[in-house]
Amino acid sequence: MEYANWSIYSLENDVEKRQSHNALFTVGNGYFGIRGFFEEDTIGEVGNGGIYIAGINGDGVDKRAVFEGKRRDLCNVMNVLRLHIFVDGNQLNGVDGISNFRRELDMQGAVYTRCYRYNDRLNVTLSRFADMADVHRIRQDATLVADETMDLTIRALIDSNVTNLNYESCEPMPIQPGVNHIVSREVGTDSIVTLLDDEDSTRVFAGQQIMLTVNDIAVEGSIYNDDGISGREWNISLKAGDKVALCKLVAVYTDKDGADSEQKIGQFLTSKIDWDKVDAAHKNCWAERWATCDIQVDSDTDDQTALRYDLFELMCVCPTHTDRVSIGARGLTGEMYEGCVFWDNEIFQLPFFTFTDPASARRMLAWRYHGLDAARRYAQYNWFDGAMYPWESCEKGREQTALEGGGFYAIHIIADIAYAIRQYLSVTGDNAFILEMGAEVLMETARFWASRADYSEWDGHWHINAVRGPNEYDVFVNDSAYTNTLAALNLRTAAETLTKIKAEAPAKFVELCAKTDFDFSETEKWLTIADGLYICYDEKRHLIAEDANYFNRRPLDLNRAKPTAKRIIDSTMNYEWLAVYQITKQSDVVTLMCLLPELFSEAHQLAAYEYYEPRTAHDSSLSYAPYAWLAARLGKAEQAYEYFKNCAYLDIADIKLNTISGLHFANFGGTWQVAVFGFGGASFNDGKLIVTPKLPQAWNGMTYHLICHGVTVEVKITKTTVTVTAQGGDLPVCVAGKDAVLSDENSTITVKL
Ligand code: BGC
Repeated sequence: MEYANWSIYSLENDVEKRQSHNALFTVGNGYFGIRGFFEEDTIGEVGNGGIYIAGINGDGVDKRAVFEGKRRDLCNVMNVLRLHIFVDGNQLNGVDGISNFRRELDMQGAVYTRCYRYNDRLNVTLSRFADMADVHRIRQDATLVADETMDLTIRALIDSNVTNLNYESCEPMPIQPGVNHIVSREVGTDSIVTLLDDEDSTRVFAGQQIMLTVNDIAVEGSIYNDDGISGREWNISLKAGDKVALCKLVAVYTDKDGADSEQKIGQFLTSKIDWDKVDAAHKNCWAERWATCDIQVDSDTDDQTALRYDLFELMCVCPTHTDRVSIGARGLTGEMYEGCVFWDNEIFQLPFFTFTDPASARRMLAWRYHGLDAARRYAQYNWFDGAMYPWESCEKGREQTALEGGGFYAIHIIADIAYAIRQYLSVTGDNAFILEMGAEVLMETARFWASRADYSEWDGHWHINAVRGPNEYDVFVNDSAYTNTLAALNLRTAAETLTKIKAEAPAKFVELCAKTDFDFSETEKWLTIADGLYICYDEKRHLIAEDANYFNRRPLDLNRAKPTAKRIIDSTMNYEWLAVYQITKQSDVVTLMCLLPELFSEAHQLAAYEYYEPRTAHDSSLSYAPYAWLAARLGKAEQAYEYFKNCAYLDIADIKLNTISGLHFANFGGTWQVAVFGFGGASFNDGKLIVTPKLPQAWNGMTYHLICHGVTVEVKITKTTVTVTAQGGDLPVCVAGKDAVLSDENSTITVKL
């Protein structure tokens, strides 16, 4: 991959790497995720396309029982960008006759472009974007310039002959195409309706409008419909220098967008398109978004581009149109994890949105609120109280983990959601959210912990038994330090929030009590449990144990257990064996210390870093960012930077060998946290922004942007100074140890380092 500040590009047209690169070149707008597939290809692509719509899931291939139904499966919907291109009767297939190949992702304008020369006589340029100004639209452009006389046939199509791509493997190897989730389809003129095999029998409606010019003169196409295909065809005789330009706008709606989806397609098909305006509106949206989140890095490395790529993909997947979906572990870029949402969102991705796009963070937390009833039912099903949020959620907030599997144990997700709400409130001051939704989630999750924790007469402590912490190589542990600490915080936050509402919004409090059958005295038990939850701790070494048994196990020789980059469980051992050893799949206690530094002294943090690092296999993409962040905080600059590189380039360099099955969104969010919280040294507590820079050696400086309590902040760090500028209100700051209150009159502070 090549790096060019605002873009990444590749000159390789290697069919072996095609699908992995297709994931990398994904563009999206929170409604669509569109992999970088070749529109005209006939041989290098599996499944036909790779377009996903947030919340559109089919009937799962994995037939294991899950809570309230069958497992779901993110579906590859119609390929609305399909092109057939023939030159003198020969169909372009994306491989043969190609030279000067280049594909590029422009992250500033959010456009993906691919160009090449065909048989040394035709220049082809194809580009597309998922419209950010109207998320139901996709724009496609094709320009073909002939060097000599030739007959060209071009068809611009909506093609419903698709299957899922089925790239679930950890190795980039071609495998069988996946299932087809389309049960039936109706082909119209420039439009198709498909019916999916999901539990709601969702219909997906797609329509297209096309303008084609030859040397800037419009040419009408004829209807080209085929089995499951709707489109237009042009047969054109070209002379040397002739230029064909095709502009296409696609509109897609589904039943989930409202009852008038069919009408909306009808209106779209007869509307007049201002092509320039479509471009301009999309670009403006992206310019606005970058203004509040871009990070500028002054360095001789490619870090600037890699970091921008990570933020770009986060923005591409962020739903701005609804609070009925959230972001899955692989977003809308691949089928691994079937589109499910994990703790990845609350702990890794959300901070980026909370600090740079609070409206989007609010929508994603609102999505958890909409899942509250499903979480209540799941708690009841498992014989607990309150709300038991699922480990893997579908868009309806129901558990998607197989019933016999980890969902019952991996309950730290519940406290992670509470953590994210607490962080959102602290950074935004959005009390209205707490009153409307947040308080109820905090209350029901606290009730869950109160029913899940056990008091032991034997040792006088409270325990949470049989859980799976972030370290998934310990499937079944007692008193996970991560889980217990965050559960205690959940219980305390809920008690504090309800105390505040009782005092400050009594009418709302009464309403909440009536709705949830809540008695304020419940908070007493919550606080008792929070104070009594057991954390296994070695005082002499200042060392927090990952769980009650970790220190008792034997060390594992990682060289033997993990001879290659492959995960241990894919190479040498299974879960049963792993339980014998001290082995940490991904940062666990280290993540905890990143999230709640106020609870741990520097000695604790250092001891944890040094003890767990050699015991960590990094067999999850979620592992590197916390290590980088904690290393930066502890002043281990070199190690911090080494870990940062794993994060920033994780997908671009395919470090986990499974980018083919989708990009790693938790890692993208983690990368942002390493840059801003780690190197940028930012934290926000009790209404105050603290900036304590920890730049890596390889960077001469960095500038980042935040929004805290509605105040927009720019932090500019060089090797010798740090400057913080605030706009839009008063903001207490502590910059490199110096306190100040920034305001409209006094908006900047510069401190020498
Ligand atoms: C990790 C989990 C993560 C999941 C989805 C697993 O490999 O261990 O922590 O939530 O992937 O990204």
